[in-house]
Amino acid sequence: MTVFFWILSLISFSLFLSVCFWLSKARRYTSTKSVATAYDSWTNERLLEKLWGEHVHLGYYKQSFLKCDFRKAKIDFVHELIRWSGLDQLPKGSRILDVGCGIGGSARILAQDYGFDVLGITVSSAQVRRAKELTPQGLSCRFEVMNALDLKLENGSFDGVWSVEAGPHIPDKQQYADEMLRVLRPGGVLAVADWNARDPLDGETSLLEKWVMRQLLDQWAHPEFSSINEFRNHLLNSRFCGGEVQIEDWTKFTIPSWLDSVFEGFRRPKAIFSLGLKGFVSGIREIPTILLMRWAFSSGLMEFGVFRTRG
Ligand SMILES: C[S@@+](CC[C@H](N)C(=O)[O-])C[C@H]1O[C@@H](n2cnc3c(N)ncnc32)[C@H](O)[C@@H]1O
Repeated sequence: MTVFFWILSLISFSLFLSVCFWLSKARRYTSTKSVATAYDSWTNERLLEKLWGEHVHLGYYKQSFLKCDFRKAKIDFVHELIRWSGLDQLPKGSRILDVGCGIGGSARILAQDYGFDVLGITVSSAQVRRAKELTPQGLSCRFEVMNALDLKLENGSFDGVWSVEAGPHIPDKQQYADEMLRVLRPGGVLAVADWNARDPLDGETSLLEKWVMRQLLDQWAHPEFSSINEFRNHLLNSRFCGGEVQIEDWTKFTIPSWLDSVFEGFRRPKAIFSLGLKGFVSGIREIPTILLMRWAFSSGLMEFGVFRTRG
């Protein structure tokens, strides 16, 4: 009985701390710099990497998350998107740009497993440093600090462009689409995965949903989410778009990631405790946002869109 009481007290205290930190320390988007600062600190504190590995994106679950490890699901996600987008049809040596590359998890798979020559770009200098550390010598995979809205790259200089979950941090979605398609050669392959809001035509947003949406934006430095249709139109409206834009909603394949990302803390308690009190507090601080994301994706307020088109 006493043990039970202590466990319950510990859980309640952790939850209380978590909500206090969550409310007091939002990471509101103000400019691209606020995104860079958020990712610099996430990268330097290593919580994300120690818990969830090299990939800062959701997993693809072919079966229940109870039977699939979060880290494996993330790797499966990369292969599924490569296959679905048609990137796997490009020959070895093709030049691929990874827009918003994180610490290079996808870029290394594209280089290692498919033989591509990859450039990863991100606004976070800490991510570039860490991506370089994690990349084995000899792998055709480079990283640079660069803004997706102002790519310092030649027109048509890539055979493929890949961008996973960078869109939610980008304020001007049309410019984001234009820049990715501008650097893609005619006939090249574009593959994008994004967190999208429900289309405004699909229903009014209730007061509760508006409050949840505000938290989803403000807690993780997101300026706004586009809907799947809106982003498809941005791609179609770009003068560099070479044809049809195909879309799919992968919410059902990715949604187990949210709860699984919390369970990872229980599966790998050493990872959390090795970060000390500060890391532990940072970890529990993310739980309310993760749970709200889970709710938003399961209630239809948010959707996980994937997009493919040609340059
Ligand atoms: C959720 S993480 C995804 C990382 C990576 N794609 C992955 O799947 O592991 C979002 C990434 O987008 C990058 N990002 C956000 N805004 C950006 C911008 N304006 N230009 C370039 N990268 C940006 C962040 O720095 C971060 O690396």
